[in-house]
Amino acid sequence: MDAVNRININSSNYLTQAAQNRQADASSPLPSDKVDIKDVPVKDLMDEKSMRSFLKDMPKVDLHRHLEGSIQPKTLISIAKRKGIELPTYDEAELKPYLQITDKDKTLLDFIKKFDTIGKAFTDKEAVEEVTYEAVKDANDDNVKYAEFRFSPVYMASQYGMSVEDVMKGVLDGVARAKKDFNTETGLIMIVERQMGPEHAAFVEKLAEQYKDQGVVALDLANDEFNFPPGPYAQVFQQAKEAGLKVTVHAGEAGGAENVRVSIEDLKADRIGHGVRTFEDPAVEKMVRERGIPLEMCPTSNVQTGATKSLDSHPFKKYYDEGIPVTINSDDPSVSNITLTDDYVKIVDKFGFTLRDVEKFVMNGLDAAFLPKDEKEALRQKYGAEIAQVEQEYVVAHPFNTGVR
Ligand code: ADE
Ligand code: ZN
Repeated sequence: MDAVNRININSSNYLTQAAQNRQADASSPLPSDKVDIKDVPVKDLMDEKSMRSFLKDMPKVDLHRHLEGSIQPKTLISIAKRKGIELPTYDEAELKPYLQITDKDKTLLDFIKKFDTIGKAFTDKEAVEEVTYEAVKDANDDNVKYAEFRFSPVYMASQYGMSVEDVMKGVLDGVARAKKDFNTETGLIMIVERQMGPEHAAFVEKLAEQYKDQGVVALDLANDEFNFPPGPYAQVFQQAKEAGLKVTVHAGEAGGAENVRVSIEDLKADRIGHGVRTFEDPAVEKMVRERGIPLEMCPTSNVQTGATKSLDSHPFKKYYDEGIPVTINSDDPSVSNITLTDDYVKIVDKFGFTLRDVEKFVMNGLDAAFLPKDEKEALRQKYGAEIAQVEQEYVVAHPFNTGVR
């Protein structure tokens, strides 16, 4: 753990100075001797540096993380040099705007355009394995202890005419090698490209069925939601469900609440990717809440794709307060140039979330994971112990407080 300003176990003053000032100004200050420390905003318990370090050390779950969007610029350069692939530049700083979001990028289509350059990495099975291994390593470095990586086998294969079987070998070998070296557990989700039509979708669905016993847990519908609604994919996704796969659908990102409704009712989605715009139809919001459909929200990406204007207007807290099982995820860490910790920091800081809330976000992720019940329960136990330990390291009891429970 970095050197940070931890709260002193013997200190009666567990709030930061800024929080104390806010309390002093408030008409009815918090009865600090009765407050459970878990109900105090994290930003009032520690300074910004400590909060970042605390949220990094917390074990986290990432349910929405694209394998292709996890590639580091330097890895793309290294693969391109080795394989003789032409890139716009081999200078890392100059290459970044080709695969990472800049101030000029405003929409989902700007976001997706980055995958033109990213695609240059997928030359062969070996490159796929390298990208996969590195993606798991990066997740592990950020204390993401369970990650579901989604990828599009047809997108990767079509870059240089690789077979989808070689793509799968690369992904599976990368995951297997990473499993030996790191503590991050993984699930795999196969992507159907919504702009490619139902025939392509049926092909990917069959492929997912074929690899169901080798770590593929679900089918996803991704890419250009603005121009391609989910309706035409209902049959294929229902088939996936019948075959025992789970379903998640990118919806309510560049499209409205109707896409969320169709994804749940017709594509039988177990989870929704983003779902930011669900609130545009209160009836759909009610359905998501009543059915307990987890939303895989990706705060940085959601602002970058224009799903929401800014973090201030992000409906994450609104949904959370209503009882919708929201989760925090990274989407494409390299495209967004973030870690999952960055997204936690943004959300916890912006909305003043507490330790109890942070625990809930992590546990919502585990509850919504596409894992068998017994494995989920084992992870819940493991996470519970790890979370308690990290909290103990950073946040300890006010003497009048009941303390961290
Ligand atoms: N593919 C990669 N990132 C995506 C996103 N945020 N939405 C749709 N398709 C994607
Ligand atoms: Zn996504």
